[in-house]
Amino acid sequence: MPGHRTSGGTGAPDLPDLPPGFRFGAATAAYQIEGAHDRDGRGPSIWDTFSHTPGRTLGGATGDTACDHYHRHREDVALLRGLGVDTYRLSLSWPRLLPRGTGPANPAGLDFYDRLLDDLLAAGIDPAVTLYHWDLPQALEDRGGWRVRETAEAFASYAALAAGRYGDRVERWITLNEPYCSAFVGYAEGRHAPGAREGRGALAAAHHLLVGHGLAVRELRAAGAREVGIALNLDRIHAASGSPEDEAARRRAEVLHNEVWTEPLLAGRYPAQEAETWGGLADGPWRRPGDLAVIGAPLDFLGVNFYRPVTVAAAPHRAADPADRTAVDVGVAELDPYGTPHTTMGWPVVPGALTELLVDLHARHPQLPPVWITENGAAFADEVAPDGSVHDPARIAYLRDHLAAVADAVALGVDVRGAYVWSLLDNFEWARGYDQRFGLVRVDYDTLNRTPKDSYHWYRGLITAHRARTEEAAR
Ligand code: FCB
Repeated sequence: MPGHRTSGGTGAPDLPDLPPGFRFGAATAAYQIEGAHDRDGRGPSIWDTFSHTPGRTLGGATGDTACDHYHRHREDVALLRGLGVDTYRLSLSWPRLLPRGTGPANPAGLDFYDRLLDDLLAAGIDPAVTLYHWDLPQALEDRGGWRVRETAEAFASYAALAAGRYGDRVERWITLNEPYCSAFVGYAEGRHAPGAREGRGALAAAHHLLVGHGLAVRELRAAGAREVGIALNLDRIHAASGSPEDEAARRRAEVLHNEVWTEPLLAGRYPAQEAETWGGLADGPWRRPGDLAVIGAPLDFLGVNFYRPVTVAAAPHRAADPADRTAVDVGVAELDPYGTPHTTMGWPVVPGALTELLVDLHARHPQLPPVWITENGAAFADEVAPDGSVHDPARIAYLRDHLAAVADAVALGVDVRGAYVWSLLDNFEWARGYDQRFGLVRVDYDTLNRTPKDSYHWYRGLITAHRARTEEAAR
């Protein structure tokens, strides 16, 4: 891989060598920031149930209040305006709009996002909207959740409602965020809501998420949506050794993490090695003729969320009896041979892996639509200095080096249009509660005060400098 592409001399040191017109954003998700979990008619989601179940999240943390963005969205839009981002990625709370998942919409919920989108546009920021960032209405989970096709159909109706109401103001629609996590962390590992540990159920969930995506794309198109895509957490997977066993383990991990999504979405087929990965479980009765055509509808962009690479080795299955295996029990162990710094999530910092991932994706899929980095960022143990400022040089280095890695991929022919930092604010990091701070802006969870960190000021400088370069190029 080439070295990091950065160039000084345009105002900001280490400005990544990204193409003119490259766009910069910041991202959040509804359950992680909104709070107001029972206000103004919002219904419960699986994350309310899960986080309120003892032992499920660190210290029993919930999203009941989170960053109280529901009541402080004006202040947060002002922070975005100060940051100077071109675009902001937010998610709609399905249970705030449709408290029972289907049926009558909640007028107060509809109004909330009207105000938010209007404020963003007034601030000169283009909204990118995720329809599903993991907060399934509990009423739908009670009827089977993503294990059943009805949830995919309900998702399509919800997409139609959202597109009809907000389509005039949304630049970019993202149907699902990281369906890997919804299906496999939620229904197989059980670390996320709804906390199930299943084989068939999780594979059915993966399929119904894809069908739901395809049906939602159809609704978004019918409503005249501008740009439609999906955000996948694709993994760059290395084998622990050159042994045939480890290489076979890497292939199984590729199927589990990447191909289960990229093959149906981008190539119109199921992964070639799914039987090696899951045996007979892979191809279940949840698949129907015609589904691949629905799932594979053309996309305007592919969203890629990237944080770290993984290394895998062959390992015994956790359950000896195939009947007891969850969908993530594919005979693979994750190792961490990376002798690099790690974030507080325990994730190794390896920016070059992002270049490898993008270049490989492009090589495998000649018809790859333009790519957006829909999430990238890092959690560190930030400290507040006596003068109230937050110096976070490790986060700045992480973001700078990953943008440079994107620039390397662009130089190698991958069409990447923009990148969103995860996250605008410190927020509720799912099962890790409030322990992991990813924000460009610090949130004090006692007072809910917001303090821009050094990384916020750095990112603003980078955006300004890149914009100047774009203007220069246009002259
Ligand atoms: C991703 C999620 C996002 C955030 C980051 C750290 O998997 O999409 O909500 O939690 O990880």
